[in-house]
Amino acid sequence: MVGGGQLARMTHQAAVALGQTLRVLAASPDDPAAQVTPDVVIGSHTDADALARAAAGASALTFDHEHVPTDLLQALVDRGVNVAPPPHALVHAQDKLVMRRRLEALGAPIPRYVEVTAPTDVDAFAAQIDGPIVVKTARGGYDGRGVTLAKDLAEARAVTERYLADGTAVLLEERVDMRRELSALVARSPFGQGAAWPVVQTVQRDGICVEVIAPAPDLDPELGAEAEQLGLRLAGELGVVGVLAVELFETADGKLLVNELAMRPHNSGHWTMNGAVTSQFEQHLRAVLDYPLGATGLIAPVTVMANVLGAPQAPEMSMDERLHHLFARLPEASVHLYGKSERPGRKIGHVNVLGAASGSLEDADYVAEVRERATRAAHWLSHGEWTDGWDEHGR
Ligand SMILES: Nc1ncnc2c1ncn2[C@@H]1O[C@H](COP(=O)(O)OP(=O)(O)O)[C@@H](O)[C@H]1O
Ligand SMILES: [Mg+2]
Repeated sequence: MVGGGQLARMTHQAAVALGQTLRVLAASPDDPAAQVTPDVVIGSHTDADALARAAAGASALTFDHEHVPTDLLQALVDRGVNVAPPPHALVHAQDKLVMRRRLEALGAPIPRYVEVTAPTDVDAFAAQIDGPIVVKTARGGYDGRGVTLAKDLAEARAVTERYLADGTAVLLEERVDMRRELSALVARSPFGQGAAWPVVQTVQRDGICVEVIAPAPDLDPELGAEAEQLGLRLAGELGVVGVLAVELFETADGKLLVNELAMRPHNSGHWTMNGAVTSQFEQHLRAVLDYPLGATGLIAPVTVMANVLGAPQAPEMSMDERLHHLFARLPEASVHLYGKSERPGRKIGHVNVLGAASGSLEDADYVAEVRERATRAAHWLSHGEWTDGWDEHGR
């Protein structure tokens, strides 16, 4: 797996259960995945030599991020390396312009957008859509970097000009009036088998996914089925191998629009580690290795995943002590830590909490209670503070 981040770390965890060890190409021995697998190649994902060393003797080469240049991947394919997903599919997760054009050609629902080549294009697009604009870099963004929800036309113009001056490819999108964000997570194997998990709701703060509710509560069953079908169809049309996350907007008037695609395990699928029969990490490996795919059924009526983000000021209490207190109070919480140092806003782990088997997704109080426990647990781990004022020493 190219990339030594938390996705590779958790994929390695799944590989162990399949009797495998994951080799990772990591930038440094401190990377989350490099800490846990014995089979590490240290190098850059933009270095052809390092990629070749990582691929040597491996059954397949896959990714924990989408930043490997496609020409380097194509060179590996030409030399017989099994690159999964293949570069002709992966490019749709690398470049938002390529992705938009392809989805348009496939008739998938997308926001109105335009490629920008000159600052005056911003005014023309603004006049056309008559609403707020989102400016995006075509490549290289993640966790909201490279995305500007412009507050007015002047900001949209200024941001666009800055990117164009740097030679960065830019697109504009209409700012979607949405009810919420959803994610359709599917997997596809080279054999052509597809599997979909139930569609989930994602909650982002400052462009970062902070919470996932699985399945999405209060979702029109037809819309849910449409999202799953769309995910499976896109996986097939694009030739994806492995996990595909289709980030979606549910619009205020009850329709679906595709935001973007990721071809790897995804933050919106972390709940599957405890809340589904097969986790996204195992499924990714099964797909990449062309095993039959695993069942995607639910373990509980609802599972909530809350990300642990580094606090503005790291707590004085050690993570070890925070864990002791968390487990004393919420023994049912499943914690997954990434082995990263704490920095403000950095994803350092996540917590999964499953709702009681007797509950129902239709019961808003039940869902709210599971969300409260998961977010309380994650906030405690990041801030060393209980959101409900609990005193962990009983004083
Ligand atoms: N067209 C849009 N309308 C409204 N919000 C958007 C739009 N595009 C992106 N966003 C918001 O910005 C977030 C990040 O955008 P995205 O394109 O997914 O970038 P990233 O690659 O950083 O994940 C989205 O999850 C959503 O909250
Ligand atoms: Mg996104």
